[in-house]
Amino acid sequence: MPAPVVVAVLAALLPAVLGQDNTTYKDYSTEAQPDLFEQTTSVVDFSFPDCTNGPLAKTLVCDKSANAHDRATALISMFTFEELVNSSSNNIPAIPRLGLPPYQVWNEALHGLDRGNFSDSGDYSWATSFPSPILTMAGLNRTMINQIGDIISTQGRAFNNAGRYGLDVYAPNINSFRHPVWGRGQETPGEDAYCLCSAYSYEYITGIQGGVDPDNLKLVATAKHYAGYDIENWDGHSRLGNDMKISAQDLAEYFTPQFVSAVRDAKVHSVMASYNAVNGVPSSANSFLLQTLLRDTWGFVEDGYVSSDCDSVYNVFNPHGYAANSSGAAAGSMRAGTDIDCGETYRDYLNQSVTDGGISRSEIERGVMRLYSNLVRLGYFDGSDSPYRNLDWSDVVSTDARNISYEAAIEGIVLLKNDGTLPLAKNASSVALVGPWGNATEQMQGNYFSTAPYLISPLAALQASDLDVNYAFGTNISSTTTDGFDAAISAAKKSDVIIFAGGIDNTVEAEGVDRSNITWPGNQLQLVNELSKLGKPLIVLQMGGGQVDSSSLKANKNVNALIWGGYPGQSGGQALLDIITGKRAPAGRLTATQYPASYAMQFPATDMALRPSGDNPGQTYMWYTGKPVYEFGHGLFYTTFKASLSKAKRSGNSFDITELLTQTHAGYNVVEQVPFMNYTVGITNTGGVLSDYTAMLFVNTTAGPQPHPNKWLVGFDRLGGLKPRASQQMTIPISLDNVARTDSQGNRVVYPGKYELALNNERSAIQSFILTGEPTVISKWPLDEQQIPPA
Ligand SMILES: *[C@@H]1O[C@H](CO)[C@@H](O)[C@H](O)[C@H]1NC(C)=O
Ligand SMILES: *[C@@H]1O[C@H](CO)[C@@H](O)[C@H](O)[C@H]1NC(C)=O
Ligand SMILES: *[C@@H]1O[C@H](CO)[C@@H](O)[C@H](O)[C@H]1NC(C)=O
Ligand SMILES: *[C@@H]1O[C@H](CO)[C@@H](O)[C@H](O)[C@H]1NC(C)=O
Ligand SMILES: *[C@@H]1O[C@H](CO)[C@@H](O)[C@H](O)[C@H]1NC(C)=O
Ligand SMILES: *[C@@H]1O[C@H](CO)[C@@H](O)[C@H](O)[C@H]1NC(C)=O
Ligand SMILES: *[C@@H]1O[C@H](CO)[C@@H](O)[C@H](O)[C@H]1NC(C)=O
Ligand SMILES: *[C@@H]1O[C@H](CO)[C@@H](O)[C@H](O)[C@H]1NC(C)=O
Ligand SMILES: *[C@@H]1O[C@H](CO)[C@@H](O)[C@H](O)[C@H]1NC(C)=O
Ligand SMILES: *[C@@H]1O[C@H](CO)[C@@H](O)[C@H](O)[C@H]1NC(C)=O
Ligand SMILES: *[C@@H]1O[C@H](CO)[C@@H](O)[C@H](O)[C@H]1NC(C)=O
Ligand SMILES: *[C@@H]1O[C@H](CO)[C@@H](O)[C@H](O)[C@H]1NC(C)=O
Repeated sequence: MPAPVVVAVLAALLPAVLGQDNTTYKDYSTEAQPDLFEQTTSVVDFSFPDCTNGPLAKTLVCDKSANAHDRATALISMFTFEELVNSSSNNIPAIPRLGLPPYQVWNEALHGLDRGNFSDSGDYSWATSFPSPILTMAGLNRTMINQIGDIISTQGRAFNNAGRYGLDVYAPNINSFRHPVWGRGQETPGEDAYCLCSAYSYEYITGIQGGVDPDNLKLVATAKHYAGYDIENWDGHSRLGNDMKISAQDLAEYFTPQFVSAVRDAKVHSVMASYNAVNGVPSSANSFLLQTLLRDTWGFVEDGYVSSDCDSVYNVFNPHGYAANSSGAAAGSMRAGTDIDCGETYRDYLNQSVTDGGISRSEIERGVMRLYSNLVRLGYFDGSDSPYRNLDWSDVVSTDARNISYEAAIEGIVLLKNDGTLPLAKNASSVALVGPWGNATEQMQGNYFSTAPYLISPLAALQASDLDVNYAFGTNISSTTTDGFDAAISAAKKSDVIIFAGGIDNTVEAEGVDRSNITWPGNQLQLVNELSKLGKPLIVLQMGGGQVDSSSLKANKNVNALIWGGYPGQSGGQALLDIITGKRAPAGRLTATQYPASYAMQFPATDMALRPSGDNPGQTYMWYTGKPVYEFGHGLFYTTFKASLSKAKRSGNSFDITELLTQTHAGYNVVEQVPFMNYTVGITNTGGVLSDYTAMLFVNTTAGPQPHPNKWLVGFDRLGGLKPRASQQMTIPISLDNVARTDSQGNRVVYPGKYELALNNERSAIQSFILTGEPTVISKWPLDEQQIPPA
């Protein structure tokens, strides 16, 4: 998605665009921000068709006893050709003759409502702003993710009832955060595709949609960006034109499992095609992705629809050159399976495509019908007594009052380093707050955000506390001037404790903006170094979505504690302070590896191969052969925990693959999802501080062909509120799906052999098991063949 700013129409170039001239007025193979028409970006006044007295009232469209597909088909059959084509883009103009109000497909809900019509003050002037997904995921609490999706959906419905928001959202972003320079890694659940991105995908989508494919959809979620999208503009390679070379093995193992979770398991109703091409074919015109995998292999819900990314249909022509002109791009995309164009290419060119013979009316009808079938399922044609129509502003206020944004920030914040300085000693009475995140307000929202009810900066939180605060800006994110250093040093000298709040923000990592390196930008480290010489307790807050190389802070004994705080949302400053003072205890874990700075210079970020080869040292914790600064899964507590497995369970567990694959699987989509054992471990708080506990469970094996992954994640969980000496059990179910590997053709295979389950990077509580029998394919990856030729 393009940045949420309204880009002015390039009026002078419009005739050239419509005339299908060579429209390379921008070189989109290097320029990463599309110029969108105002019609694409504009907010509309939402309302509902009148099914009581309006023109559709007595038609099948308004007949609640008919099924959604038939009702949508009936509606489309009433459209003139021009009305049909008008309805194939995201901003659908009203059709007064049929009593149809305008509709805008493009609504955002990454971590709160965005692109709605917010009023200036009073009712509907704000919505809850949650932490960015990368931070929420770090809390390792599935229920929390689901709850956030549910609250956003409630608030979205309330805004929709007031005509201020649509019924479908372009969220979640479930691409895995492969390379640390990616500017949109902040939007994702982290670098692990199979477990974290898939779990996030399932929980968020079912939260947004109101369950697993409920009859009455609450909102329609969109799983994006499908597929292979994780570069904005690294080294001048624009996302709009990138052709990602991805092996079948990596596509199956790393770039699509979260989409299987979204489509097959969570029953998402919409999927967004990405800007980039995969192996030569732009995603929006890629029938292997949109038909063979999505519908034929994973069973996309009936009438589920695919939206383009905004202007990605146009990009099929420019810069991909996969179609010879815009009408070819429109026909090829629609035929391949992109039902709705976020952009104007369908609206402006599908008539030409039909004239050219590139597409038929019925093929256009299929796409538009799918969108309307979903609107039917959302109750759009069901009148004011249909579900969710009673939600209003009071529901926005009451769901916000549950403070889940604050809780999510608390749960996600990761303690990277601590020599005992944290939680702060009770005798500390004054704090110096220094750095570009010290007074962060909007910065705490990362990207894709609207007005929050309030934004509690670290400074505001400190000012409201019992501590005296000496604030100094110090230096900016990327600044090279030392003008602010003196004030920072004197604030520090006056104080008992120093907090430096810095790192990165959306000035260096954003939509359309990758980093070129992963060092701390500007002269922030120089200032931290000077502060560290004052001999006072020094706490560093490393903020932002992507990781920066903090190895010098890790090594510096005078940096007493280091915290990663992501983009913590509306209560971010309060959450950080409450962790620092010990009012709450940290239990988040990194969901992305903190690599040394050299990693980002070692091989091109456009190299999609996960396994090590040549200059590529292997990507993600599964394959990286170097030494991370802080590992994926790293996170400290204020207390100590002991994990113990009962002796009987440590080994001797053996399972026959064929037997497991032939059992019944009621309640599961596929037999390989049925757990065959539980990893159950007793967790005891052996320290002195009340704390939540989180764990990641990894498996490793040498079964199957080389190379073998270092290990991979099979489960995670969070336990709440363990008092000193208290114990709780943690149970993580293990299925064949968890331990299968992916072969070179992309098939998922279960290999016989020995496997070890180990808790966290410390490898506590190791339990082994053996799988017997023959290597068995549990899901076959189809051949990558295009059904629609380039236009
Ligand atoms: C448009 O023209 C530019 C040079 O002016 C050329 O490099 C590019 O390939 C052309 N693009 C298409 C899609 O024809
Ligand atoms: C936003 O809502 C206001 C009502 O508060 C309405 O007057 C206005 O037309 C809406 N704006 C758009 C672009 O729909
Ligand atoms: C198609 O949409 C445009 C606005 O985008 C509108 O001016 C035109 O009247 C519409 N055509 C029909 C037949 O509704
Ligand atoms: C668009 O490209 C197609 C395929 O090359 C061609 O048949 C068609 O005439 C072109 N249309 C226009 C308007 O140039
Ligand atoms: C197709 O529709 C667009 C937008 O309504 C219009 O500008 C164009 O002239 C039409 N082209 C043809 C071939 O009818
Ligand atoms: C707080 O107490 C500790 C010893 O418990 C001492 O080392 C430290 O200097 C004291 N800090 C302040 C600000 O008084
Ligand atoms: C902190 O930020 C707020 C909001 O941007 C601003 O009003 C305030 O002046 C800032 N405070 C300081 C001390 O810079
Ligand atoms: C890292 O990237 C920034 C921004 O592009 C640049 O200013 C800086 O010099 C780079 N640092 C290193 C160590 O390459
Ligand atoms: C709600 O969150 C605020 C911070 O935003 C915090 O100060 C307050 O204590 C929280 N209230 C409850 C009841 O947890
Ligand atoms: C795992 O534990 C749950 C209860 O927590 C139980 O219902 C289930 O049967 C167990 N599964 C296996 C395979 O032991
Ligand atoms: C799992 O990894 C550990 C640590 O590298 C190793 O000692 C052990 O042999 C491995 N286990 C299996 C089953 O491969
Ligand atoms: C997980 O999140 C849910 C929903 O916010 C919350 O009720 C629960 O206490 C959390 N679990 C833990 C262990 O913190």
